[in-house]
Amino acid sequence: MDIVSANRKRNFAGRILVASVLTAVFIFMFSLSPDSNSTKAFPRHEPGVTHVLVTGGAGYIGSHAALRLLKDSYRVTIVDNLSRGNMGAVKVLQELFPQPGQLQFIYADLGDAKAVNKIFAENAFDAVMHFAAVAYVGESTLEPLRYYHNITSNTLVILEAMAAHKVKTLIYSSTCATYGEPDKMPITESTPQKPINPYGKAKKMSEDIIIDFSKTTNMAVMILRYFNVIGSDPEGRLGEAPHPELREHGRISGACFDAARGIIPGLKIRGTDYNTADGTCVRDYIDVTDLVDAHVLALANAKPGKVGIYNVGTGKGRSVKEFVEACKKATGVNIKVEYLSRRPGDYAEVYSDPSKIRDELNWTARFTYLQGSLQIAWRWQKTHINGYGSHNN
Ligand SMILES: NC(=O)c1ccc[n+]([C@@H]2O[C@H](COP(=O)([O-])OP(=O)(O)OC[C@H]3O[C@@H](n4cnc5c(N)ncnc54)[C@H](O)[C@@H]3O)[C@@H](O)[C@H]2O)c1
Repeated sequence: MDIVSANRKRNFAGRILVASVLTAVFIFMFSLSPDSNSTKAFPRHEPGVTHVLVTGGAGYIGSHAALRLLKDSYRVTIVDNLSRGNMGAVKVLQELFPQPGQLQFIYADLGDAKAVNKIFAENAFDAVMHFAAVAYVGESTLEPLRYYHNITSNTLVILEAMAAHKVKTLIYSSTCATYGEPDKMPITESTPQKPINPYGKAKKMSEDIIIDFSKTTNMAVMILRYFNVIGSDPEGRLGEAPHPELREHGRISGACFDAARGIIPGLKIRGTDYNTADGTCVRDYIDVTDLVDAHVLALANAKPGKVGIYNVGTGKGRSVKEFVEACKKATGVNIKVEYLSRRPGDYAEVYSDPSKIRDELNWTARFTYLQGSLQIAWRWQKTHINGYGSHNN
């Protein structure tokens, strides 16, 4: 062998060595990147896999819905700005579903149309479940513009992105607050919608926009009007953890638990002279597990060019007194109760007629034992005194 060919052989071997080392380093670094495999899955449609964008998936209902979707092998992208939700809830989901291509979290504000458009451009969504919203009636009367922006205008942003990127299925979180104070109970889907506060009005406007837009497209739309949502994951992985500053606007179950934990001295029941069996207001409490079942059924039954509108409630009204007694039993704490005069704007009775969703989607509420739902929620509350901890990490 002459010197030139020996050198050539050495150079060649050296190059192979360098190339192998570089490849190994590249593979190693790529495998360390948290998104290495998952980034491959999310931008592409995959036959047999439905990729759902869950807006507000760090929140109470959105996180429970994401859990259910993931359990049923859907691919899930959560978009949330954590203004009201908890990164802790997302982390629970990430730990339960760590496989690449199952779940990704994107921090973004839906009011930022450019960011939303980029998310739609970079991901192949098959459907959107739009939960993200500010959702306190009392707060909406104090900050109406915030509600119209966050609910109505952000729904426009979502619809525009869906149209631009040809995403054809929308499941929309609406509310019984869109009905206002109907004269007749129970509330059916054809009960006239006359909302009486900015929250209900903003949701009703969103519904109208969605319905008008759907007439010009082949979109499959399901609008679910929830009644009062309670409970949490029966396996104790997720719970309801509103940020502490929202406590004053809070809902009855949160207030009961706070009273049971001694965070607040007791409960104030406003109004004992309503025209109801025990004089206190009557509401329809729907367990979050039943509610997310309704979402999965709605998604499975959404039809192109059709809008389905459904009440999601139990069909049974429970008085505030009944609720507090169930909460006392569920927590084992003799919660102190103070009875006060009526709060302006509260109406006596609200409960749903859920027969449409039963007949058309074969859905009925299963968790209708109030004390049972509260017991499940209390188990999580007791072990999560500070909710998910700091909500941003
Ligand atoms: N909880 C109920 O009893 C009830 C009843 C009827 C309807 N709803 C509707 O259900 C949906 C979910 O309610 P929830 O109780 O889970 O509320 P939640 O506050 O727990 O969750 C809402 C989530 O949306 C996120 N979000 C809000 N604005 C956002 C924005 N601009 N960009 C990105 N993320 C944003 C929040 O950070 C939060 O994680 C809402 O649309 C609400 O109106 C709730």
